[in-house]
Amino acid sequence: MRLTIVGGGGFRVPLVYRALASDEHATRVDELVLHDTDETRLQRVAAVLSDIAGEYARPPRVRLTTDLAGAVSGADFVFSAMRVGGLAGRVCDERAALDLGVLGQETTGAGGVCYGLRTIPVALELAETVRRVAPEAYVINFTNPAGMVTEAMSAVLGRRVIGICDSPVGLFKRVARLLGIPREQITFDYAGLNHLGWLHRAVVDGVDLLPGLLAEPDRLMQIEEGRLFGPQWLASLGTVPNEYLWYWYYTADAVASIEKAGVTRGEYLLEQQDRFYAGEGDAFARWERTRLDREETYMAEGRASTDAGERDDEDLDGGGYDKVALALMRAISADEGTELVLNVPNDGTLEAVDAEAIVEVPCTVGADGPRPVAVSQLLPHERGLVTTMKDVERTTIEAATSGSRSAALKALALHPLVDSVTHARQILDREMAALPELSRVLVRP
Ligand code: G6P
Ligand code: MN
Repeated sequence: MRLTIVGGGGFRVPLVYRALASDEHATRVDELVLHDTDETRLQRVAAVLSDIAGEYARPPRVRLTTDLAGAVSGADFVFSAMRVGGLAGRVCDERAALDLGVLGQETTGAGGVCYGLRTIPVALELAETVRRVAPEAYVINFTNPAGMVTEAMSAVLGRRVIGICDSPVGLFKRVARLLGIPREQITFDYAGLNHLGWLHRAVVDGVDLLPGLLAEPDRLMQIEEGRLFGPQWLASLGTVPNEYLWYWYYTADAVASIEKAGVTRGEYLLEQQDRFYAGEGDAFARWERTRLDREETYMAEGRASTDAGERDDEDLDGGGYDKVALALMRAISADEGTELVLNVPNDGTLEAVDAEAIVEVPCTVGADGPRPVAVSQLLPHERGLVTTMKDVERTTIEAATSGSRSAALKALALHPLVDSVTHARQILDREMAALPELSRVLVRP
């Protein structure tokens, strides 16, 4: 099987490669094509891969290219993992908002809208290319904001695009650990949008074990979500939210914590990643050090704000970004019927949104792709956030596809975490001035 990664010079590509190299299944990937617009990044990542290859008996062959159609042609699966505007774009998204006292974050708040605006046209170009040269391929989309980007691509690819995220996997792993029960024995009743979902129940042998857990503050404090949200707040909600809900429930704390740190996540990573990509010698060791540092500092603003200390060792393996992707490919190619949380068309699963809306829910995945399983309906306040954000996502897609600056402003201003139309306008002005990737998209008033 052939897998193509678009954004193949990305830092997390070696994780995927390692997972592929250790895969012993009959349907394993034996050819990996890495596409990137930046040749140097491809070379740096390739050096890490060749170090990894030496440790495995049958590592996949690797081909590097900057030609998109050539990369996609003949692929069975395409991973989309690109970062339009690079980390410099992320820094701009964060700072443009933070300087106005508004949350500045990669996917949540104004940052997610801005990131989506410049990414959607490029994601659509990829979708068109896949439809043209590899119409049978599945596209697995990691590109953030993943829900919005998957929804945009689904207009071209229908069910051949599936969005994924490792956050729900991490959450399930931690809850399973807390319950002391293997993950496979628990049915996780989870629903929402990407980075906006809630765990409603954790069922074992027909019994929901979540209420018992929510009644035990000391135990909850043993996982990130307990420390981040506080056991009392979790008990009030009666759910365990995705970690990204911290930016919603604790917005002022998040802004204060990021300001106090002095550097944003994007600024931190820009420096860290530049050092990695510019470095010489022992590619694997430098990559591994950098990766560990990235994992250890993930969502540091949340931990600093809640005095949560360091991340748990068990959480440092990256939440399984690579493993979700591999599990999804295998479930399709070997018709395995695996259950995975994915971003797929709603199809009546959640009453809150229409059938075409991309939602993040558990699905059974076989040869004909994912099918959502029945889940609990959203609670009233969750429903409010989800319907509002679906509208923001669609307004962003409309702006990105029509080039309308006023639609872009509307998307920003309708976001509940952007506190004023004036701020929305200032953020957009600054982004337009700083990022050619955006001014190129919004060409109409
Ligand atoms: C989690 C999220 C991803 C996001 C990443 C950011 O894994 O699910 O969607 O890209 O965190 O991590 P970073 O190290 O870039 O801040
Ligand atoms: Mn994610």
